[in-house]
Amino acid sequence: MFFNLVILVALFLVDFAPASCEVGAFIYNGFQSGNLSLDGIAKLTSNDLLLLTDSKTKDQGHAFYPNPIHFKNSPNGTAFSFSTTFVFSIRSDYRSMSGHGLVFIIAPQRGLQGAMPNHYLGLFNSTNNGNRSNHVVGVELDTTFTEEFGDINENHVGIDINGLKSVAVHTAGYFDDTGLFHNLTLASGQTMQVWVDYDGSTKQIKVTIAPLHVGKTVRSLLAMKYDLSPILDQNMYVGFSSSTDPVPTHHYILGWSFKINGKAQELSQLPRLGRREESRFLTITLTLISLVLLVVAILSGSLCKKEEEVWLSSTRLKIGQAQAQLR
Ligand SMILES: *[C@@H]1O[C@H](CO)[C@@H](O)[C@H](O)[C@H]1NC(C)=O
Ligand SMILES: *[C@@H]1O[C@H](CO)[C@@H](O)[C@H](O)[C@H]1NC(C)=O
Ligand SMILES: *[C@@H]1O[C@H](CO)[C@@H](O)[C@H](O)[C@H]1NC(C)=O
Ligand SMILES: *[C@@H]1O[C@H](CO)[C@@H](O)[C@H](O)[C@H]1NC(C)=O
Ligand SMILES: *[C@@H]1O[C@H](CO)[C@@H](O)[C@H](O)[C@H]1NC(C)=O
Repeated sequence: MFFNLVILVALFLVDFAPASCEVGAFIYNGFQSGNLSLDGIAKLTSNDLLLLTDSKTKDQGHAFYPNPIHFKNSPNGTAFSFSTTFVFSIRSDYRSMSGHGLVFIIAPQRGLQGAMPNHYLGLFNSTNNGNRSNHVVGVELDTTFTEEFGDINENHVGIDINGLKSVAVHTAGYFDDTGLFHNLTLASGQTMQVWVDYDGSTKQIKVTIAPLHVGKTVRSLLAMKYDLSPILDQNMYVGFSSSTDPVPTHHYILGWSFKINGKAQELSQLPRLGRREESRFLTITLTLISLVLLVVAILSGSLCKKEEEVWLSSTRLKIGQAQAQLR
């Protein structure tokens, strides 16, 4: 009996360990451990979310896994395969405007020296952008259009090697099993998941993105051959970068797992974006719309008392449904 209990407790601890001790693999189902290297305005929220940037403008945030990851056996060696997956949500204080996005990064240091906010995404600055000595690999979820970096639009996913001019890019979205493409709006506040897979033998990088409830699709959004061996040092740090300006935008990560030479562990039991994290915009808009409709209805005088009550309760129901969808 006691033995069983010990096993149960051990299993529990293994299951819920914030960052597994296995070399080259870790998982965060929420960030309750606080075990991340943070800088800039990045912080962990009381409900276990990683908040890279919040309502501050012209600022940046970084979060790195605290330990270095071993990416190859010798300086001139071949980079190992790796896979990573994370769940995110980008919530702007305003509709149809946000800035600037977030990036999954592999970098030589647990930080990015001299990095600038705004369209530099907290990754580079005007002098080091594109420099081959950066040794930085990124997968950007970019929510602004920057002509300077050859952006295709204000809602795209790109692979960045040493600079913000992506080597592969596609409008955000996913291909379903029939091959049909579905647009995704990165900054919609919707919770979405990203998968980045690199095959060290075929040198293929694949990036897939889908709404959380859809799951990983067979066809990836981006697939390209690119040998990361010369880019990656033997030991590198993995993490996220984000910047905001001029529109205050919340960039959240809900969970993250990573593995060298294998498939990143599935995420489960992720924290929820609480009421406070709900898109303030949607709440305000819904309230305003219902107020306007109410005034119109009352002024028009065309509704009898009973109809008005039915209408009011159905409006409340719709607002409730919309809010439930947000959660
Ligand atoms: C944080 O994570 C590192 C890497 O897994 C580990 O060595 C360390 O013990 C962890 N610390 C805490 C407080 O969990
Ligand atoms: C590693 O690469 C560097 C630069 O390309 C080269 O100078 C060096 O000789 C190589 N070392 C080995 C052991 O191949
Ligand atoms: C850019 O960052 C580098 C460090 O990576 C730093 O040496 C340089 O001064 C920075 N340039 C600007 C314009 O901030
Ligand atoms: C790239 O960065 C290195 C090291 O910071 C520097 O010596 C070199 O001049 C830079 N190259 C360019 C083209 O700016
Ligand atoms: C998807 O987004 C692209 C780029 O914004 C746009 O050109 C296209 O019309 C959209 N497709 C659909 C089905 O909304």
